[in-house]
Amino acid sequence: MSNTNTNTNTNYFHNLLQSDDLVAAPLAGVTNRAFRNIIRNYHSGLMFTEMISVEGLVRQIQKTLHYLSIDASEGDVHVQLFGMNPESFSGAVHVCEDGSEGEHIKGYNVNMGCPAKKVYKKGGGAGLLRDTNTIAKICQHMRKSTTKPISIKIRLGWDNNNMVYREILNIAENEGVNALIVHARTRKQMFTGEPVYSALEELAQDAKNVALIGNGNVFDRASYLQIKNTGVQGVMIGRGMMKKPWIFQAIKAHENPDTYLAPKEIYNLLQSLAQHETELATRRNDPHGYNLALIKKYAVWFSKGLANSAEFRGKVYAKMSPVEKALAARGGTLTQSYHGTPQYEQEKEQFWRTMDYYFNAN
Ligand SMILES: Cc1cc2nc3c(=O)[nH]c(=O)nc-3n(C[C@H](O)[C@H](O)[C@H](O)COP(=O)(O)O)c2cc1C
Repeated sequence: MSNTNTNTNTNYFHNLLQSDDLVAAPLAGVTNRAFRNIIRNYHSGLMFTEMISVEGLVRQIQKTLHYLSIDASEGDVHVQLFGMNPESFSGAVHVCEDGSEGEHIKGYNVNMGCPAKKVYKKGGGAGLLRDTNTIAKICQHMRKSTTKPISIKIRLGWDNNNMVYREILNIAENEGVNALIVHARTRKQMFTGEPVYSALEELAQDAKNVALIGNGNVFDRASYLQIKNTGVQGVMIGRGMMKKPWIFQAIKAHENPDTYLAPKEIYNLLQSLAQHETELATRRNDPHGYNLALIKKYAVWFSKGLANSAEFRGKVYAKMSPVEKALAARGGTLTQSYHGTPQYEQEKEQFWRTMDYYFNAN
């Protein structure tokens, strides 16, 4: 990789973040194509796929390949990869580039912060924070495999006694990584401890050829400014956007995200989510449309902060059918046998009646 190319890719991030400094976080189980489509109503900048296993891509497992689905009109969507074997990252990038939607992928990100046990136990996600040699090797393999922009997403370290963020910035600078995304917590803090914004200030002073994106606890304009004022170029939003996809516009408009959308608009948003999910199901050759449990989850999230939302939440969950309750008790998701039954169709109809009543009369 020549320096010219590295600079072009770093400038890509600088330019993108200059025109829109907000960034939509990768969220497993959330930032699929349907949800990204919703986000695009309110956010024109950088966004990511859910995390995708490099091993699944290399083995061309059908379910893993579905996560790569990106539409030509989606704009700056980057694919997030996770794993721990450096060679597999090269293999995965080749699968992405050679796939039918390879040209829609605008860049790649490596997950180095996922705290889930099943991910870090195998050495991936936050597990990499304990093995910076492997981090360097992964960056080298990524850089050799693509000319597109590359970013890595880290936490500050494994715990307070093992902070590695400055070391990783050096690795990123040396290995041709173009942007460093920092969730300002350690793996031990999971999602609840206070983010350490002073670490972002340190990185902003040290960074030379790498664009910096700060992340952690942005739920409104005040918290956005807290991160922006550390000197980073971009501010990533995770849970704030999951519960309120319109948060990007609200922050820019200096408005309160809790009251930014009228209930009727939220209802319309849920309907378009169901429609996008149905389109995706059709692509997967599943004739039964959207998964109601998923839309219920979004309905409950989006209602937070509205009048009588606790009561509404209770109603949505109380309306679970015996079949759905039995499935939930077994910890299972909806299965093919439940999809398409008259009972399920009836339940969907009833759900939308509750929704209409709540959001359109609220
Ligand atoms: C449900 C959920 C799924 C997540 N999935 C991913 C993921 O796939 N990849 C990743 O790098 N981080 C993932 N994260 C972490 C977020 O991207 C983000 O770093 C974290 O939530 C902190 O930002 P926030 O305080 O704005 O939520 C996930 C977080 C949540 C809550």
